[in-house]
Amino acid sequence: YLIGFQPDIGGELPYDDEHTGLKDRIVIKFSHVVAENTPKGLAAAHFAELVKEKSQDRVEVQVFPNGMLYAEDNEITALQNDDVQMIAPSFSNMNVIDPAWLVMDLPFAFRNQQEVERALQGVLGERLLATLEPHGMKGAAFWHNGFRQVTNNVRQLRTPEDFQGLKFRIQPSPVLKRQFEALGASTISTPFNEIYRSLKNGKVDGQENTISNILSKRLYQVQGFITISNHSYLGYIVTFNKRFWEDLPPDVQQLLKEALAETSDWNNREALSHENRLQMLAQNQSIEMTTLSDADKALWRQRFEPLYQEFADIIGSDLMKEIP
Ligand code: LMR
Repeated sequence: YLIGFQPDIGGELPYDDEHTGLKDRIVIKFSHVVAENTPKGLAAAHFAELVKEKSQDRVEVQVFPNGMLYAEDNEITALQNDDVQMIAPSFSNMNVIDPAWLVMDLPFAFRNQQEVERALQGVLGERLLATLEPHGMKGAAFWHNGFRQVTNNVRQLRTPEDFQGLKFRIQPSPVLKRQFEALGASTISTPFNEIYRSLKNGKVDGQENTISNILSKRLYQVQGFITISNHSYLGYIVTFNKRFWEDLPPDVQQLLKEALAETSDWNNREALSHENRLQMLAQNQSIEMTTLSDADKALWRQRFEPLYQEFADIIGSDLMKEIP
């Protein structure tokens, strides 16, 4: 956080000069919590650039990264209040809107990004998008980050038994909580931008995240061990304030849709290249890496099996059938 930073989040921008021809300039404030050099941070900047180009400066997307305006626990409310017009929360933050989103958190639900992509482009994605409108949100795209890996500061984690007694930072999702409990560990949910400090001061022993988030927030500096487990998927729902969206002129809606479609394709490829940054972490001396074998994963899977039962009614068995 930038202490004392007072962003100008309201008021008119000085563009309504009739000589500039920018009288009906539209500003979209886009808040997110991650660093600029991550799949989401880069996609947001790419989108802003495309919109500027396509609208010939008529529409400006102002991107606020790193949770400088809002964190996960207040960005949805900020969107609903029209304090910002666009956010891209990760799926694990969406269960406050509708428990159906928990389907995306189930461990080992997807084997690779292509499976995630297919599910989101199909019935599963449609059903999730439909949860948003009653909450004043207009879902516009799914963006990718990657699979979660586990880091900690106590010991190398390979078998379920290795997790016994450890405490992990999680996102606010009951599935993620139960996942660690199934391994004999406990959890605390904290905002993304507090992870580094919580790890450093020992409030938690570890956390789970994608390679790009671990690298960009330098979590490897305060963690001794990383397990490449690819156990669950971290992706984003890009959403507008619904009223704001509906009040936009049709031509602006159209150009935003086009810019988003192009950005989503681009993000898809970009996210994969960030997953490949594994090498950078592997070469880092301060963190020791281990990769789960199929046999290791089978043991984790056994522990996770009861979660599918436990959450079937909460998520809805119909929706669970859409897991590949
Ligand atoms: C996290 O809180 O770990 C992630 O959701 C952050 C993000 O948006 O990638």
